[in-house]
Amino acid sequence: MSADPGKTRRVAGPPVSLHVTVLGTGTMGQGIAQVCAQSGHTTRLFDVAEGRASAAVKGIGAQLEKLLGKGKITGDERHQTMNRLSAASGPTGARDACSGADIVIEAVPEDMQLKLDVLGPLLEVLGPHALIGTNTSSLSITELGARLGVPERTVGLHFFNPPPVMELVEVVRGLSTSDATIERALDFARGLGKTPIVVRDVPGFATSRLGVILGCEAMRMLEMGVASAEDIDRGMELGYRHPMGPLKLTDLVGLDVRLAILDHLTKEIGDQFRPPAILRSMVRAGKLGKKTGEGFYKWVDGQPVAK
Ligand code: CAA
Repeated sequence: MSADPGKTRRVAGPPVSLHVTVLGTGTMGQGIAQVCAQSGHTTRLFDVAEGRASAAVKGIGAQLEKLLGKGKITGDERHQTMNRLSAASGPTGARDACSGADIVIEAVPEDMQLKLDVLGPLLEVLGPHALIGTNTSSLSITELGARLGVPERTVGLHFFNPPPVMELVEVVRGLSTSDATIERALDFARGLGKTPIVVRDVPGFATSRLGVILGCEAMRMLEMGVASAEDIDRGMELGYRHPMGPLKLTDLVGLDVRLAILDHLTKEIGDQFRPPAILRSMVRAGKLGKKTGEGFYKWVDGQPVAK
């Protein structure tokens, strides 16, 4: 099934409209919320930072405007999608956003304690049947579920950047995630027009583990002066038909995100994931990639420019 961002996604059969709450409105949270709302789900966004969730709704509005301009959606679809979205922030915002939700998708930074702090207090308003989804790229679903006290309905729902475009959702099964939860997660992902794969809960799952190692090696090659960033990328784009090279992709994902994954995988798996020095120093310098305007490239009007 195509994951064309311009299409309202439906699986065969009657459409199911759920209440979805997305916690955290960074690049991933905003993109996931867009996909959910375009697929017919009532979607609430929460961010702890005042004004950030409403900015994300505005950002989705701008994305939909582009799709409208390209003739990929109608004005009515845009209008209906916007009507399904709402934003919350502040001390009671998360509770309001979660009350009565069928599915919550946590998309806050990669820090287990932060995820526990965000989700823990919400369990009482979420109700006993709500699916607890996390967009973590590498942290343990088993640990998150166990420490929340709801291991059977905690599941990894790992989306890819940019979520409206990328077709995959990695559905990660923790040690005690129930079969019913996995089925619900698969139905949900298919209903978004995505293709899910089911992966056992191991550090880095199936995708991050492979993806980050390529990025890591590209950074080491840059450190060694093997070639310029553009030529390393061009090699993988033209020689291996990757849609974008590993350094450009690191810029797109965020250098801070990649560093957090690598630190975690080094601890869990071993030294082959040890982050290159260049990555840590660029993160310290605030050069986080596309979102800050500079990483391995400068980003001008959303496009990478060689440095
Ligand atoms: N939101 C919505 N739509 C977007 C978008 C965004 N942020 N970025 C691009 N698009 C759409 C464009 O509007 C365009 O749509 P049309 O064809 O309808 O016009 C389409 O995607 C292609 O975009 P462009 O023509 O601008 O550029 P492109 O052809 O180079 O594609 C790309 C851009 C889709 C990002 C492509 O380069 C790509 O697939 N790159 C690899 C992305 C990838 O590997 N992602 C996974 C990262 S790892 C991850 O996310 C997991 C993790 O845990 C860290």
